[in-house]
Amino acid sequence: MSADLFTPLVLRGTEIPNRVMVSPMCQYSCEGRDGLPTDWHDTHLVSRAVGGAGLVMTEATAVEARGRITPHDLGIWSDDHADALADITSSISDRGSIPGIQLAHAGRKASKTRPWAGGDPLTGEDGWETVAPSDRPWPYDDDAVATRAMTTDDIDDVIDSFRVAAERARDAGFRVAEIHAAHGYLLHEFLSPVTNDRDDDYGGSFGDRTRILREIASAVREVWPDDDPLFVRISATDWLPDRESWTVADSVRLADDLAPLGVDLIDVSAGGIHPDQRIPSTGPGYQERYARRVRQETEEDVAVGVVGGITTAEQADALVRNGRGDLAIVGREHLRDPYFALHAAQALDRLDADGVEVPVQYDRAF
Ligand code: FNR
Repeated sequence: MSADLFTPLVLRGTEIPNRVMVSPMCQYSCEGRDGLPTDWHDTHLVSRAVGGAGLVMTEATAVEARGRITPHDLGIWSDDHADALADITSSISDRGSIPGIQLAHAGRKASKTRPWAGGDPLTGEDGWETVAPSDRPWPYDDDAVATRAMTTDDIDDVIDSFRVAAERARDAGFRVAEIHAAHGYLLHEFLSPVTNDRDDDYGGSFGDRTRILREIASAVREVWPDDDPLFVRISATDWLPDRESWTVADSVRLADDLAPLGVDLIDVSAGGIHPDQRIPSTGPGYQERYARRVRQETEEDVAVGVVGGITTAEQADALVRNGRGDLAIVGREHLRDPYFALHAAQALDRLDADGVEVPVQYDRAF
Protein backbone atom coordinates (compact mmCIF):
# COMPACT_ATOMS: atom_id res chain seq x y z
CA MET A 1 0.00 0.00 0.00
CA SER A 2 1.37 3.43 -0.85
CA ALA A 3 2.01 5.92 1.94
CA ASP A 4 -0.57 8.49 2.92
CA LEU A 5 -0.48 11.52 5.22
CA PHE A 6 -0.77 9.33 8.31
CA THR A 7 1.83 6.73 7.41
CA PRO A 8 4.85 7.27 9.67
CA LEU A 9 7.98 8.59 7.97
CA VAL A 10 11.05 6.68 9.07
CA LEU A 11 14.33 8.48 8.49
CA ARG A 12 17.41 6.76 9.94
CA GLY A 13 16.38 5.53 13.42
CA THR A 14 13.66 8.12 13.86
CA GLU A 15 9.98 7.52 13.24
CA ILE A 16 8.05 10.70 12.55
CA PRO A 17 4.52 9.54 13.44
CA ASN A 18 2.82 11.25 10.48
CA ARG A 19 3.72 13.37 7.43
CA VAL A 20 2.58 16.75 8.81
CA MET A 21 5.36 19.15 9.79
CA VAL A 22 4.90 22.58 11.34
CA SER A 23 6.90 24.87 9.07
CA PRO A 24 9.49 27.06 10.82
CA MET A 25 7.90 30.42 11.55
CA CYS A 26 9.67 33.30 13.30
CA GLN A 27 7.68 34.63 16.21
CA TYR A 28 9.94 37.63 16.95
CA SER A 29 8.89 37.16 20.56
CA CYS A 30 12.04 36.97 22.65
CA GLU A 31 11.97 39.59 25.37
CA GLY A 32 14.94 41.87 25.60
CA ARG A 33 17.64 40.94 23.12
CA ASP A 34 18.76 37.66 24.62
CA GLY A 35 17.41 35.10 22.13
CA LEU A 36 15.86 33.05 24.93
CA PRO A 37 12.47 31.41 24.48
CA THR A 38 9.48 32.80 26.35
CA ASP A 39 6.05 31.46 27.31
CA TRP A 40 4.93 32.45 23.84
CA HIS A 41 7.35 30.02 22.17
CA ASP A 42 6.32 27.29 24.57
CA THR A 43 2.61 27.82 23.90
CA HIS A 44 3.07 28.25 20.16
CA LEU A 45 5.16 25.11 19.63
CA VAL A 46 3.59 22.76 22.18
CA SER A 47 0.03 23.54 21.10
CA ARG A 48 0.91 22.41 17.54
CA ALA A 49 2.19 19.15 19.05
CA VAL A 50 -1.11 18.76 20.91
CA GLY A 51 -2.71 19.45 17.53
CA GLY A 52 -1.16 16.28 16.16
CA ALA A 53 1.66 17.44 13.86
CA GLY A 54 4.22 14.65 13.56
CA LEU A 55 7.13 17.08 13.48
CA VAL A 56 7.18 20.49 15.14
CA MET A 57 10.01 22.68 13.83
CA THR A 58 11.13 25.80 15.68
CA GLU A 59 11.45 29.11 13.96
CA ALA A 60 14.81 30.12 12.47
CA THR A 61 17.10 29.87 15.51
CA ALA A 62 20.28 31.90 15.24
CA VAL A 63 23.59 30.08 15.61
CA GLU A 64 25.25 33.36 16.52
CA ALA A 65 23.85 36.66 17.76
CA ARG A 66 24.63 38.65 14.59
CA GLY A 67 22.73 36.01 12.60
CA ARG A 68 19.34 37.12 13.93
CA ILE A 69 16.93 38.90 11.64
CA THR A 70 15.66 41.01 14.54
CA PRO A 71 16.80 41.40 18.16
CA HIS A 72 13.73 39.37 19.15
CA ASP A 73 14.64 36.16 17.28
CA LEU A 74 15.32 32.88 19.01
CA GLY A 75 18.97 31.89 19.42
CA ILE A 76 21.09 28.90 20.37
CA TRP A 77 24.50 30.47 20.83
CA SER A 78 24.95 29.58 24.52
CA ASP A 79 24.25 26.78 26.95
CA ASP A 80 21.54 28.94 28.57
CA HIS A 81 19.62 28.81 25.29
CA ALA A 82 19.91 25.04 25.16
CA ASP A 83 18.75 24.69 28.77
CA ALA A 84 15.70 26.87 28.14
CA LEU A 85 14.81 25.05 24.91
CA ALA A 86 15.03 21.67 26.65
CA ASP A 87 11.77 22.38 28.49
CA ILE A 88 10.02 22.88 25.16
CA THR A 89 11.48 19.78 23.49
CA SER A 90 10.41 17.59 26.38
CA SER A 91 6.85 18.94 26.22
CA ILE A 92 6.70 18.36 22.45
CA SER A 93 8.04 14.81 22.88
CA ASP A 94 5.59 14.10 25.70
CA ARG A 95 2.76 14.92 23.29
CA GLY A 96 4.05 12.29 20.84
CA SER A 97 5.58 14.67 18.30
CA ILE A 98 9.18 14.95 17.16
CA PRO A 99 10.87 18.26 18.07
CA GLY A 100 12.96 19.85 15.31
CA ILE A 101 15.11 22.96 15.24
CA GLN A 102 15.89 25.19 12.31
CA LEU A 103 19.50 26.40 12.59
CA ALA A 104 19.89 29.75 10.90
CA HIS A 105 22.04 32.75 10.09
CA ALA A 106 20.41 35.78 8.50
CA GLY A 107 23.53 37.14 6.76
CA ARG A 108 22.86 40.48 5.09
CA LYS A 109 19.17 40.30 6.03
CA ALA A 110 20.02 40.62 9.74
CA SER A 111 19.63 43.66 12.00
CA LYS A 112 16.05 44.65 11.16
CA THR A 113 13.00 45.70 13.12
CA ARG A 114 10.16 43.21 13.51
CA PRO A 115 7.77 42.91 10.55
CA TRP A 116 5.00 44.57 12.52
CA ALA A 117 7.35 47.53 13.17
CA GLY A 118 8.14 47.81 9.45
CA GLY A 119 11.03 45.33 9.02
CA ASP A 120 13.42 48.25 8.44
CA PRO A 121 17.19 48.25 8.98
CA LEU A 122 18.06 48.99 12.61
CA THR A 123 20.09 52.13 13.01
CA GLY A 124 22.63 53.34 15.54
CA GLU A 125 23.20 51.35 18.68
CA ASP A 126 20.09 49.23 18.14
CA GLY A 127 21.63 47.59 15.07
CA TRP A 128 24.74 45.55 14.42
CA GLU A 129 27.17 44.82 11.61
CA THR A 130 25.82 42.28 9.15
CA VAL A 131 28.02 39.87 7.22
CA ALA A 132 27.54 38.21 3.85
CA PRO A 133 29.60 36.60 1.08
CA SER A 134 29.89 40.00 -0.64
CA ASP A 135 29.33 43.56 0.50
CA ARG A 136 26.00 44.07 -1.24
CA PRO A 137 23.44 45.46 1.19
CA TRP A 138 19.80 44.44 1.56
CA PRO A 139 17.46 45.92 0.55
CA TYR A 140 18.95 47.85 -2.36
CA ASP A 141 17.83 51.30 -1.31
CA ASP A 142 19.06 54.37 0.53
CA ASP A 143 18.13 53.01 3.92
CA ALA A 144 20.25 49.94 3.37
CA VAL A 145 22.72 49.14 6.08
CA ALA A 146 26.15 48.24 4.77
CA THR A 147 27.11 44.61 4.96
CA ARG A 148 30.67 43.32 5.28
CA ALA A 149 32.11 40.65 3.00
CA MET A 150 33.19 37.72 5.14
CA THR A 151 36.83 36.74 5.45
CA THR A 152 37.76 33.05 5.38
CA ASP A 153 38.21 33.28 9.17
CA ASP A 154 34.60 34.50 9.42
CA ILE A 155 33.52 31.55 7.28
CA ASP A 156 35.39 29.12 9.54
CA ASP A 157 33.72 30.72 12.56
CA VAL A 158 30.24 30.39 11.06
CA ILE A 159 30.82 26.73 10.18
CA ASP A 160 31.90 26.17 13.75
CA SER A 161 28.87 28.06 15.09
CA PHE A 162 26.57 25.69 13.20
CA ARG A 163 28.48 22.70 14.59
CA VAL A 164 28.33 23.92 18.20
CA ALA A 165 24.67 24.94 17.80
CA ALA A 166 23.88 21.41 16.61
CA GLU A 167 25.64 19.95 19.67
CA ARG A 168 23.58 22.19 21.92
CA ALA A 169 20.38 21.32 20.03
CA ARG A 170 21.16 17.62 20.41
CA ASP A 171 21.69 18.06 24.15
CA ALA A 172 18.46 20.07 24.39
CA GLY A 173 16.49 17.08 23.07
CA PHE A 174 15.83 18.03 19.45
CA ARG A 175 15.55 14.99 17.17
CA VAL A 176 15.66 16.72 13.77
CA ALA A 177 18.00 19.53 12.76
CA GLU A 178 17.27 21.65 9.71
CA ILE A 179 19.95 23.90 8.20
CA HIS A 180 18.31 27.04 6.82
CA ALA A 181 19.83 27.66 3.39
CA ALA A 182 16.81 29.41 1.84
CA HIS A 183 15.01 32.77 1.56
CA GLY A 184 18.01 34.99 0.90
CA TYR A 185 19.68 34.41 4.26
CA LEU A 186 23.39 33.77 4.71
CA LEU A 187 23.77 30.32 3.15
CA HIS A 188 21.46 31.12 0.24
CA GLU A 189 23.55 34.27 -0.29
CA PHE A 190 26.56 32.01 -0.83
CA LEU A 191 24.66 29.64 -3.15
CA SER A 192 23.24 32.27 -5.47
CA PRO A 193 25.37 34.07 -8.07
CA VAL A 194 23.08 37.07 -7.49
CA THR A 195 24.66 37.73 -4.09
CA ASN A 196 28.03 35.99 -4.29
CA ASP A 197 30.84 37.87 -6.09
CA ARG A 198 33.68 36.10 -4.32
CA ASP A 199 36.68 34.87 -6.28
CA ASP A 200 38.09 32.57 -3.60
CA ASP A 201 37.16 28.98 -2.69
CA TYR A 202 33.66 30.11 -1.61
CA GLY A 203 32.48 31.87 -4.76
CA GLY A 204 32.50 31.58 -8.53
CA SER A 205 31.75 28.04 -9.71
CA PHE A 206 28.79 25.97 -8.51
CA GLY A 207 31.16 23.83 -6.44
CA ASP A 208 32.70 26.87 -4.76
CA ARG A 209 29.38 28.64 -4.07
CA THR A 210 27.96 25.51 -2.47
CA ARG A 211 31.14 24.72 -0.49
CA ILE A 212 30.11 26.47 2.75
CA LEU A 213 26.80 24.60 2.86
CA ARG A 214 28.52 21.27 2.24
CA GLU A 215 31.05 22.04 4.96
CA ILE A 216 28.28 23.01 7.40
CA ALA A 217 26.27 19.89 6.57
CA SER A 218 29.35 17.75 7.24
CA ALA A 219 30.17 19.62 10.46
CA VAL A 220 26.61 19.26 11.76
CA ARG A 221 26.47 15.61 10.72
CA GLU A 222 29.66 14.91 12.73
CA VAL A 223 27.92 15.87 15.97
CA TRP A 224 24.30 15.05 15.11
CA PRO A 225 23.31 11.55 16.29
CA ASP A 226 23.40 8.81 13.65
CA ASP A 227 19.78 7.93 14.36
CA ASP A 228 18.51 11.48 13.96
CA PRO A 229 17.63 13.07 10.62
CA LEU A 230 19.25 16.15 9.13
CA PHE A 231 17.22 18.40 6.83
CA VAL A 232 18.30 21.31 4.63
CA ARG A 233 15.80 23.99 3.57
CA ILE A 234 16.63 25.50 0.19
CA SER A 235 15.11 28.03 -2.13
CA ALA A 236 14.76 25.86 -5.23
CA THR A 237 14.79 28.92 -7.47
CA ASP A 238 15.62 32.61 -7.05
CA TRP A 239 12.58 33.44 -9.21
CA LEU A 240 14.84 35.69 -11.30
CA PRO A 241 14.58 34.08 -14.74
CA ASP A 242 16.04 37.09 -16.58
CA ARG A 243 19.48 37.00 -14.98
CA GLU A 244 22.12 34.54 -13.88
CA SER A 245 20.62 33.12 -10.70
CA TRP A 246 19.95 29.92 -8.74
CA THR A 247 17.72 27.47 -10.64
CA VAL A 248 15.78 24.28 -9.98
CA ALA A 249 18.46 22.35 -11.92
CA ASP A 250 21.03 23.73 -9.44
CA SER A 251 18.82 22.50 -6.60
CA VAL A 252 18.71 18.97 -8.01
CA ARG A 253 22.49 18.98 -8.29
CA LEU A 254 22.84 20.35 -4.75
CA ALA A 255 20.52 17.67 -3.34
CA ASP A 256 22.70 15.02 -4.99
CA ASP A 257 25.78 16.60 -3.38
CA LEU A 258 24.21 16.89 0.09
CA ALA A 259 22.74 13.39 0.41
CA PRO A 260 26.12 11.60 0.61
CA LEU A 261 27.10 13.98 3.43
CA GLY A 262 24.28 12.63 5.58
CA VAL A 263 21.45 15.00 4.67
CA ASP A 264 18.21 13.02 4.78
CA LEU A 265 15.57 15.45 3.53
CA ILE A 266 15.53 18.53 1.33
CA ASP A 267 12.83 21.00 2.38
CA VAL A 268 11.98 22.73 -0.88
CA SER A 269 10.99 26.37 -0.61
CA ALA A 270 11.78 29.24 -3.02
CA GLY A 271 12.74 32.88 -3.43
CA GLY A 272 13.79 35.61 -1.01
CA ILE A 273 17.17 36.57 -2.49
CA HIS A 274 16.24 39.78 -4.30
CA PRO A 275 13.37 42.31 -4.34
CA ASP A 276 13.01 41.90 -8.14
CA GLN A 277 11.90 38.27 -7.80
CA ARG A 278 8.82 37.33 -9.83
CA ILE A 279 6.67 34.75 -8.05
CA PRO A 280 4.64 32.94 -10.70
CA SER A 281 1.85 31.99 -8.27
CA THR A 282 1.04 31.97 -4.57
CA GLY A 283 -1.94 29.66 -4.96
CA PRO A 284 -2.42 26.17 -3.53
CA GLY A 285 0.80 24.15 -3.51
CA TYR A 286 2.70 26.92 -5.31
CA GLN A 287 6.13 25.37 -4.69
CA GLU A 288 5.12 21.75 -5.14
CA ARG A 289 6.42 21.56 -8.69
CA TYR A 290 9.97 22.32 -7.50
CA ALA A 291 9.80 19.63 -4.80
CA ARG A 292 8.56 17.13 -7.36
CA ARG A 293 11.48 17.88 -9.66
CA VAL A 294 14.00 17.51 -6.84
CA ARG A 295 12.39 14.23 -5.83
CA GLN A 296 12.21 12.84 -9.36
CA GLU A 297 15.50 14.08 -10.77
CA THR A 298 17.94 13.39 -7.94
CA GLU A 299 20.02 10.28 -8.36
CA GLU A 300 20.71 9.96 -4.65
CA ASP A 301 18.19 8.56 -2.20
CA VAL A 302 16.96 11.69 -0.40
CA ALA A 303 13.51 12.52 0.95
CA VAL A 304 11.74 15.74 -0.01
CA GLY A 305 9.47 18.08 1.92
CA VAL A 306 6.82 20.17 0.18
CA VAL A 307 5.95 23.62 1.53
CA GLY A 308 3.85 26.53 0.36
CA GLY A 309 0.11 26.99 0.11
CA ILE A 310 -0.90 23.71 1.76
CA THR A 311 -4.20 24.41 3.50
CA THR A 312 -6.37 21.28 3.26
CA ALA A 313 -6.19 17.68 4.39
CA GLU A 314 -6.92 16.40 0.89
CA GLN A 315 -4.13 18.44 -0.65
CA ALA A 316 -1.57 17.32 1.94
CA ASP A 317 -2.65 13.69 1.63
CA ALA A 318 -2.57 13.77 -2.18
CA LEU A 319 0.99 15.03 -2.36
CA VAL A 320 2.18 12.12 -0.25
CA ARG A 321 0.01 9.55 -2.03
CA ASN A 322 1.06 10.74 -5.48
CA GLY A 323 4.75 10.69 -4.59
CA ARG A 324 5.29 14.42 -5.06
CA GLY A 325 6.87 14.64 -1.61
CA ASP A 326 7.51 12.70 1.59
CA LEU A 327 6.41 15.36 4.07
CA ALA A 328 3.68 18.03 3.96
CA ILE A 329 5.13 21.17 5.56
CA VAL A 330 2.36 23.48 6.70
CA GLY A 331 3.00 27.07 7.74
CA ARG A 332 0.24 29.65 7.89
CA GLU A 333 -2.56 27.10 8.05
CA HIS A 334 -1.02 26.03 11.37
CA LEU A 335 -1.35 29.62 12.59
CA ARG A 336 -5.04 29.53 11.69
CA ASP A 337 -5.55 26.03 13.04
CA PRO A 338 -3.11 24.53 15.57
CA TYR A 339 -5.09 21.28 15.26
CA PHE A 340 -4.54 21.02 11.50
CA ALA A 341 -3.20 17.44 11.74
CA LEU A 342 -6.05 16.17 13.93
CA HIS A 343 -8.60 17.89 11.72
CA ALA A 344 -6.91 16.34 8.67
CA ALA A 345 -7.08 12.87 10.25
CA GLN A 346 -10.75 13.44 10.95
CA ALA A 347 -11.46 14.68 7.42
CA LEU A 348 -9.61 11.72 5.90
CA ASP A 349 -11.19 9.20 8.27
CA ARG A 350 -7.76 8.27 9.63
CA LEU A 351 -8.23 9.02 13.34
CA ASP A 352 -7.49 5.35 14.03
CA ALA A 353 -4.04 5.52 12.34
CA ASP A 354 -1.02 4.75 14.53
CA GLY A 355 0.46 8.14 13.76
CA VAL A 356 -2.52 10.02 15.20
CA GLU A 357 -2.70 10.73 18.90
CA VAL A 358 -5.87 12.44 20.05
CA PRO A 359 -5.20 13.68 23.59
CA VAL A 360 -7.41 11.66 25.91
CA GLN A 361 -8.67 14.92 27.38
CA TYR A 362 -10.04 15.87 23.95
CA ASP A 363 -11.33 12.43 23.02
CA ARG A 364 -14.99 13.35 23.08
CA ALA A 365 -14.42 16.10 20.51
CA PHE A 366 -12.99 13.85 17.79
C1 FNR B 1 7.73 32.15 7.82
N1 FNR B 1 8.60 31.40 7.05
C2 FNR B 1 9.81 31.01 7.58
N2 FNR B 1 10.61 30.13 6.89
C3 FNR B 1 11.74 29.65 7.44
O1 FNR B 1 12.42 28.85 6.80
N3 FNR B 1 12.13 30.04 8.68
C4 FNR B 1 11.39 30.93 9.43
O2 FNR B 1 11.73 31.22 10.58
C5 FNR B 1 10.22 31.47 8.84
N4 FNR B 1 9.46 32.40 9.48
C6 FNR B 1 8.18 32.67 9.04
C7 FNR B 1 7.30 33.41 9.86
C8 FNR B 1 5.98 33.58 9.46
C9 FNR B 1 5.04 34.33 10.38
C10 FNR B 1 5.54 33.06 8.23
C11 FNR B 1 4.11 33.22 7.79
C12 FNR B 1 6.41 32.39 7.42
C13 FNR B 1 8.12 30.73 5.82
C14 FNR B 1 7.27 29.51 6.18
O3 FNR B 1 8.02 28.54 6.87
C15 FNR B 1 6.67 28.88 4.91
O4 FNR B 1 7.73 28.43 4.11
C16 FNR B 1 5.80 29.83 4.12
O5 FNR B 1 4.91 30.53 4.98
C17 FNR B 1 4.98 29.10 3.06
O6 FNR B 1 4.21 28.08 3.64
P1 FNR B 1 2.62 28.30 3.95
O7 FNR B 1 2.52 29.37 4.98
O8 FNR B 1 1.97 28.69 2.66
O9 FNR B 1 2.16 26.96 4.46
